[in-house]
Amino acid sequence: MIRVLVIHGPNLDLLGMREPSIYGDHDLDAINALIEKEAAELGVDVTIMQSNREGDIVEAIHDALNSAQVIVINPAGYTHTSVVIYDALQAVRLPAIEVHLSNIHAREEFRAKSVTARACVGQISGFGPQSYLLALRAAKALVERSAQ
Ligand code: DQA
Repeated sequence: MIRVLVIHGPNLDLLGMREPSIYGDHDLDAINALIEKEAAELGVDVTIMQSNREGDIVEAIHDALNSAQVIVINPAGYTHTSVVIYDALQAVRLPAIEVHLSNIHAREEFRAKSVTARACVGQISGFGPQSYLLALRAAKALVERSAQ
């Protein structure tokens, strides 16, 4: 089975109550349930974590070396600032897919720049919880393509 690690960054634990006009009404548990359902349908073994701390996210990326084939990551606010998450993704060299609930290119100017996307195969942004489900499909396709 294809193994995917999903990482949710800071403040995503407050989804549901956090700016629902931008991030929607689903709380993180509801999004995780959608991710798990999609993973089961795709035959993907998914592990999910959330942290508000940059170091925890770096360590989860390191640990993925032993446990995952693809990383799906919503670095949240760290997207726009985090050289250390960028470096961790570059270091482990696992294929990574960056995800955003909102369209970061259609919001404040500072959000349009992603430091971390440069270390990713691609970015899916603006589809709400569906962004994660599309990323799971992309992750599966990446692994299947590399096995051919
Ligand atoms: C976000 C977009 C980021 O700019 C923001 O800081 C977040 C969430 C998204 O999923 O749309 O926390 O990553």
